[in-house]
Amino acid sequence: MGLAAAPSVSQRFNPTTHHSMPTDHPPRSAELSAEAAKSTLKEGDASRELSEKERLVRHRGLATWGERLVPLDRFRDAAAQRGTELDATQRAAAEQAFVATQDDGVVAEGPFERIVVFGGIYNNHIALDALIDDANAWGADAVYCLGDFGGFGPSPDKVWPLLERGGIRSIQGNYEQSLSSGAEDCNCGYADPRDNHFAELSYLYTAQNSSDAFKQAMGELPLRRRVKLSNPSNSNSPFELLLIHGSPRRINEFLFESATPDPYLEVLLDQERADAILCTHTGLQWQRQLASGRSLINVGVIGRPANDGARNVWSTRIEVREGALHAEHVPLHYDSEALAAEMRREQLPDEFVDTILSGWWTTCLEILPAKERAASRF
Ligand SMILES: [Fe+2]
Repeated sequence: MGLAAAPSVSQRFNPTTHHSMPTDHPPRSAELSAEAAKSTLKEGDASRELSEKERLVRHRGLATWGERLVPLDRFRDAAAQRGTELDATQRAAAEQAFVATQDDGVVAEGPFERIVVFGGIYNNHIALDALIDDANAWGADAVYCLGDFGGFGPSPDKVWPLLERGGIRSIQGNYEQSLSSGAEDCNCGYADPRDNHFAELSYLYTAQNSSDAFKQAMGELPLRRRVKLSNPSNSNSPFELLLIHGSPRRINEFLFESATPDPYLEVLLDQERADAILCTHTGLQWQRQLASGRSLINVGVIGRPANDGARNVWSTRIEVREGALHAEHVPLHYDSEALAAEMRREQLPDEFVDTILSGWWTTCLEILPAKERAASRF
């Protein structure tokens, strides 16, 4: 992978020092698209059909510059002009350091034989109540929540007693981080104005209706956990799972199935010394086993349906079967009519109620990558 060093913030947009750039700012999007398309065509054989994997792992020919993406060649030219391009030795050392294992000092819990993991409660206390019963019926040794207790649904303070009833081991999501620190917004990571409008409504409602004690408890939760999983016949070599909210590198990073390439996941697993990474935040469950045998498991959310036209929500059961890690996304059914009625009483937006009753997302859609966006109804 390319590791040309980025210009520092103070260097980025200084017209007196960026002689290599035709303007003192990155190119506008139309200009960018044309240049990126040319760059992409030059790099590959346009006549050959790309496999799904090749398409996903192929470099887009763009580099991050401030808040924008610019053509990679242009970025490298500018970096070289600034004297920040790495030579071969420096590049090799930087790559080695980048993939080196980072010890986070988190002591792994367990070992357990079978666990239930879920995320995104979004104030859906009725689904959480059903989840606890479902996990107990399955015989889970431990139940984990990957954060985002609030948002979207009604009556935030009904969630806390249920978390305690279920003995649920949680980490902070972006919601807990924001609420416990008094932040002005949820730091959900949306970019579209309409998405942000509805995210703001959810956050303000949740902030105003959560007790100070609950908010303080949220802030005391860890940002990550590690869990060992094994079966009774081979407890000496358990699998180690890393539990985080968005991704190991950022609490609000969206790991969508269609936009998360294998090499990126292999690097994360190298860096984190884990057999599997468990995440949520996107609202859509998926999993992938990599060539190394390690896995990424997005456990889904129980707060709202998975934008598929069905009312049920999703949690994930994980256990070791025949020496291999086995994760199964399980539909969770709950009284969605009762939730919708409570949302109306709380005067939450009709758009939110529509999602609960139809199974289709009506808001926060524009963050979806093209493939997931195309599968939406609205
Ligand atoms: Fe989140």
